[in-house]
Amino acid sequence: MVADDKGLLAIDESIGTCNRRFAALGIPETADRRRAWRELIVTTPGLGQSISGAILCDETIRQRTGGEASFVSVLDDAGILPGIKVDAGTIELAGHPGEKITEGLDGLQARLATYAEMGARFAKWRGVIAVDADRPSRGCVEANAQALARYATICQQVGLVPVVEPEVLMEGSHDLARCAEVTEAVLRAFFRHADEQGVMLEAMILKPNMVLPGLDCANQEDADTIANATVNCLLHTVPASVPGIAFLSGGQTGELASARLNAMNLRFRGRMPWQLAFSFARAIQQPALQIWAGQDDRVQAAQAALAHRAMCNHAARRGAYDAAMELTPAAASAR
Ligand code: 13P
Repeated sequence: MVADDKGLLAIDESIGTCNRRFAALGIPETADRRRAWRELIVTTPGLGQSISGAILCDETIRQRTGGEASFVSVLDDAGILPGIKVDAGTIELAGHPGEKITEGLDGLQARLATYAEMGARFAKWRGVIAVDADRPSRGCVEANAQALARYATICQQVGLVPVVEPEVLMEGSHDLARCAEVTEAVLRAFFRHADEQGVMLEAMILKPNMVLPGLDCANQEDADTIANATVNCLLHTVPASVPGIAFLSGGQTGELASARLNAMNLRFRGRMPWQLAFSFARAIQQPALQIWAGQDDRVQAAQAALAHRAMCNHAARRGAYDAAMELTPAAASAR
């Protein structure tokens, strides 16, 4: 999943989230358009050169392409491992106003067995941590960390690789140091629960946020400062036996996400015990979605933009991304 400088592509947005992104572009919020969008993605020529695995959602793994192939078989043919989002989304955490807990542990083992039979090789679960002066609470961090650890053990019991996604949100006016403090606390809590639950660290992928200033913070740091803060946070908290760390993008633009990942791999080359990869949704999909806008005659142009972002991140894994790569014809058509 993190070999050959490749990374994961998340296309597992819930029906509600996918519909919200479609609505913003005037795309009909139908099962057929969601299917068409995901088909466009998985049939992108050459995608397997940069992408090792794609995370599907329950709706997509049950759908078929226009040519009647299952999404799993299309991914298999492209040399891309099929994965599946298995959490059931978030609800308010009782007793903790404004904080969330992720649902979906009940019956998880049976659901995972079904997905494995359908061809999934790995799974994903996202916990969400909001930041402000008083949050996160210890109760929120512990509850989400324990759920992530229990999910990971259940995955490993049925032979799926768990992608463990504790997301510290970008919303807020907190600064870089506060994000680092919260991310460290969350990762420490997860690995403590992982130990208690018996998670095999060698057989999981961590999908954290980058350490970033809040969206409303006046001080938006440069890529090198963010790279230092993020990798130092991970070096403090993530055991060397974890083979790979694959970041979520969290609402960063595609270009910023690539530049920051690149800075990390460039500055810390040879000094990290794990592979530092990506598992982006918006930072790979968004320019292509804007080009496609639901129109079948724009599929090829959208696929070119998608392949371009995937390739930029493939380069960022080697520390070989350069902003000048954004001036290629594919990128120009994405503007
Ligand atoms: P973003 O890269 O858009 O944050 O999405 C990653 C993801 O998988 C969200 O759960």
